[in-house]
Amino acid sequence: MLWFDVDRSAAAPLTTQVYEQVRSRILRQELAEGERLPSSRELAANIGVSRNVVLEAYDRLTAEGYLEGRPQTGTYVAAGSSFERHRETEQKRLAPPAAVTRTEAGTATIDFRAAHPAADYFPRTVWGRLAKEVCLDAPERVFGYNRAEGVPELRSVLARYLLQARGVRCHPDQIVITSGATQALHLITELLSRKKDGCVAVEDPVTDEMRTIFTYAGSTVLPIPVDDKGIIPEELPAEEKPDFIFVIPSHQFPLGGTLPIQRRIQLLEYARRMDCCIVEDDYDSEFTYEGAAVHSMQGLDPERVIYVGTFSKILSPALRIGYAVLPERFIPEYRRLKWFADRHTSSLEQMILARFMEEGYFERHIRRMKKIYRKRREALVRSLQQELPQAKILGQSAGMHLVVEIPGMRFTQYMLRRIHLEGVHVYAVEHYAIHKGRHEQQIVMGYGGLTAESIQEGVVRLRRALENE
Ligand SMILES: Cc1ncc(COP(=O)(O)O)c(C=O)c1O
Repeated sequence: MLWFDVDRSAAAPLTTQVYEQVRSRILRQELAEGERLPSSRELAANIGVSRNVVLEAYDRLTAEGYLEGRPQTGTYVAAGSSFERHRETEQKRLAPPAAVTRTEAGTATIDFRAAHPAADYFPRTVWGRLAKEVCLDAPERVFGYNRAEGVPELRSVLARYLLQARGVRCHPDQIVITSGATQALHLITELLSRKKDGCVAVEDPVTDEMRTIFTYAGSTVLPIPVDDKGIIPEELPAEEKPDFIFVIPSHQFPLGGTLPIQRRIQLLEYARRMDCCIVEDDYDSEFTYEGAAVHSMQGLDPERVIYVGTFSKILSPALRIGYAVLPERFIPEYRRLKWFADRHTSSLEQMILARFMEEGYFERHIRRMKKIYRKRREALVRSLQQELPQAKILGQSAGMHLVVEIPGMRFTQYMLRRIHLEGVHVYAVEHYAIHKGRHEQQIVMGYGGLTAESIQEGVVRLRRALENE
């Protein structure tokens, strides 16, 4: 089946886009000499353009010798038309823009990307005022090179917050401020995976971004299945010792389970037996909409658990501020690794954040955002119930995303593209799975960065795309 995206917002006319797409496939030998092309009617339906557009493109390709029409049978790739050009140049010229943001009707695509906070609610005024204050009255040392672990002002207020809100037990000196959780995890992998043939046990499915941090550092990833409660400890390897176990116990990504205490204990017992660490990613636990947030695993065993947090979800990923809370034995080496990575995270941003927390804005902001995300989640659940009553909603009522399962549906690449053509982006859970084939009926839908109106419209478009299947 021949299928590709056309971009209605692009300057190039649709006929040219179809012509270029078919031509490049012939040149790259993706359409082989002698291969029959779909009829103009069929291709027009596949890519959502009028038949005339395809007819015109086919005519041009025939005139230039790429295609030949055979009476009664159809249109074929002409002999001698394929030629391997320089791929990179070809792709750059022909690839559709990374994020096609316009649909047929010319309206913006609604992107249900997970874990994107509401940028429209960033506390600009307060942040701006505090930034000015820091510039005017922070001590001079802040404007020089500072210690790799971060400024003491932020580490102190953070240690107090983590104890009270997440049950994390640590001294401020056990905290290292990093450039987001991403850097914290990268440095942890460097710290703990020193052996050549090391492996990291990770939840499966898991966020692809975090997984690639481990593989990029040279570790083998050992997938451990996840169910609706989170990682299944019985599935951890009995013989092979992982360098560490990476878990997201408070709100597993993407399936959304909260790990019960029994499994937390099992995990810790395993880690003690195997003498390895648990790395706990606690990226969005502030936003729990039913009951109280479960405390961290770090609080159960601060010597075994490295706790990783971030301000990307609560405030903004633009800050690039995250942190790792480490057992004492790892501190000197981890600080060294951070120093070699980038010396330290911006001290000015850290100082602004420290004031934001000390002066009570942080907790106020969390309370405010929790209300907003709860409403957005409710809007999504309501729209799904109205438009797609057969859909099952999975995962804890928390965070900024949920998982939708539609019985009988398979969210293949093709299906996702059909959905995209309706002007909506959703994400297949299969994409995050290491072992493929278990989550084909499930998609991730993030709601953090979308208004209730966009959510409603997005679900209507999703229903339309699924109906057309
Ligand atoms: C599971 C998980 N943890 C943490 C993060 C945050 O990364 P960072 O703090 O580098 O922005 C993300 C980002 O999307 C994530 O998906």
